[in-house]
Amino acid sequence: MARITASVYTSHVPAIGAAIDQGRTQEEYWRPLFAGYQRSRRWLTEHTPDVVILVFNDHATAFSLDLIPTFAIATAAEFQPADEGWGPRPVPPIAGHPELGAHIAQSVIQSDFDLAVVNKMDVDHGLTVPLSLMCGQPARWPFRVIPFAVNVVHYPVPSGRRCFELGQAIRRAVESFDEPLNVQIWGTGGMSHQLQGPRAGLINKEWDARFIDRLIADPAGLSRLPHIDYVREAGSEAIELVMWLVARGAMADVAGGSPPTVVHRFYHVPASNTAVGHLILQESSP
Ligand code: DHB
Ligand code: FE
Repeated sequence: MARITASVYTSHVPAIGAAIDQGRTQEEYWRPLFAGYQRSRRWLTEHTPDVVILVFNDHATAFSLDLIPTFAIATAAEFQPADEGWGPRPVPPIAGHPELGAHIAQSVIQSDFDLAVVNKMDVDHGLTVPLSLMCGQPARWPFRVIPFAVNVVHYPVPSGRRCFELGQAIRRAVESFDEPLNVQIWGTGGMSHQLQGPRAGLINKEWDARFIDRLIADPAGLSRLPHIDYVREAGSEAIELVMWLVARGAMADVAGGSPPTVVHRFYHVPASNTAVGHLILQESSP
């Protein structure tokens, strides 16, 4: 049986990817940010999964106003880094897991979540920046990845509650896959985040800290937060944080098991216009 052993949460600011690709991680501006991920990288080398279900949002790269899937699971064998206007990031292709992906699609759709199934997709910074932050610059990524896209870019967006319930359905799907795979689920995006308009650059440290506190200790309560609270308190793109609730919903305690262990927690301002938040939760008996 496959098992979810940990969840990872991280912002995916594109400028972080550029800093890595251009060899600027030790510059004064960036050093404190990358220092906050050193422990995470060590932890990941000691806890390398077989597969990561990477919950991210496409930023009008693979999708557009032509087609807006609320939830989409990608089942291809390989994904290329997308060209977002400056050429594709110089990172390895991403190996998928078509069998587990197809199984999750079957199980989750039969649990009444209507996923779109994507058989071909280039993946943008929402997916590649978290990989780079957690893995550095390897010649190939050390695990397979199932890209799981959530629409948080174009309204209407799914509620936090729906995302949290989706995570629970993903957990049941993984646990019914008949292969002994070590699976992690990552939630990306956020935190305080307002990219345009008069409030551009808005940072609400207190709100972000409380969000992480509640994500750890009261995820069900947190999942009931209406989307307008994210937008008002932490900026229009803070709504990306509902994707963290997908990952949190997949942890054992939500299904009646033991609470996870907090392996690492980190917060840093600024990166580009936004606050960077990061958390690793590991199952107590992985
Ligand atoms: C920025 C952050 C994002 O998450 C994103 O998708 C685009 C831009 C930023 O802070 O610049
Ligand atoms: Fe984003």
